[in-house]
Amino acid sequence: MNCNIAVIKGDGIGPEVVSEAMKVLDAVGAKYGHTFNYEQLLMGGCSIDVHGVPLTDEAVARAKAADAVLLGSIGGNTSTSPWYKLPPEKRPEAGLLKIRKELGLFANLRPAFLYNELKGACPLKEEIADKGFDMMIMRELTGGLYFGARETKEVDGVMTAVDTLTYNENEIRRIAIKGFDIAMKRRKKVTSVDKANVLDSSRLWRKIVEEVAKDYPEVTYEHMLVDNCAMQLVKDPAQFDVVLTENMFGDILSDEASMITGSIGMLASASLNETKFGMYEPSGGSAPDIAGQNKANPIATILSAAMMLRYTFDMDKEADAIEAAVQQVLVENYRTCDIVSEGTELVSCSQMGDLIAERV
Ligand code: IPM
Ligand code: MG
Repeated sequence: MNCNIAVIKGDGIGPEVVSEAMKVLDAVGAKYGHTFNYEQLLMGGCSIDVHGVPLTDEAVARAKAADAVLLGSIGGNTSTSPWYKLPPEKRPEAGLLKIRKELGLFANLRPAFLYNELKGACPLKEEIADKGFDMMIMRELTGGLYFGARETKEVDGVMTAVDTLTYNENEIRRIAIKGFDIAMKRRKKVTSVDKANVLDSSRLWRKIVEEVAKDYPEVTYEHMLVDNCAMQLVKDPAQFDVVLTENMFGDILSDEASMITGSIGMLASASLNETKFGMYEPSGGSAPDIAGQNKANPIATILSAAMMLRYTFDMDKEADAIEAAVQQVLVENYRTCDIVSEGTELVSCSQMGDLIAERV
């Protein structure tokens, strides 16, 4: 198969980790007879430096024309980087929000899985880590608080900031359907997370999720308040299968879920629209503190490339091969610095990419 991939390496550790994912994809291509064509695009701080904006319309058009987008990370140090002296709509993050909206990527899948080999890196108590966990955070990605009208102004002499959180029933229904569809392929349980004891948007969320659930009699579902969910994630993460939630709650809970896997450098993600098109990126950020040092963990990006093969290109056995290769390097005790522990071997970002590519 001939696959056209728009590659956005981005800022910070983005270029390093994406290069390793491309290395692994090329190994898959060589083994299974596929050609991956890459077109590199700018987004985030690197685009600001060249074009003065975090994402050009030209880059959006090229991303749309590709079969899928592979993304590293965007942004820099928010207290020291000159990018953060710009007005909010010109900062790196605005590029990411714009591309999600322009490509209609409303469904964000963030799988959080505790590898046996990384149980020691899990910050939870041993008896909790021992049970393991395997959940899929389904985050709504193009609505809610991050896309509502916002402004800061003076009201009666007092500086006042407003952000608006809006969801309509169609936005809720389509993400709920994705959530239940994914649950059907997993352990058939959905935990829908909201704040229905306070928010109207959450009460509508709950109502629509209940309607959608009727079409999935095999799936057990429950509602959970977001504050309780934050607590349950550290108390008993094994209880979760699919966690279905709105944009901001999903942003926060997915960082929490990733941390309990041992490192945010392990977590892949896929952002999908109604078609096979998707954008694939590690859940973690640009880690400017370790950028350019060949230290970052490329596994999240490599696993994101595996998700791309699975969801956009229907290449299940190729995706399995990448996931097995990742598992294999962990079994063989190779670790980047974020997950290294006594008795394991420290490797660099590019060495980790080589090791995984060799095992594909
Ligand atoms: C994420 C990030 C982004 C988000 C930021 C960089 C805008 O935190 O992908 O989780 O909040 O969606
Ligand atoms: Mg986030």
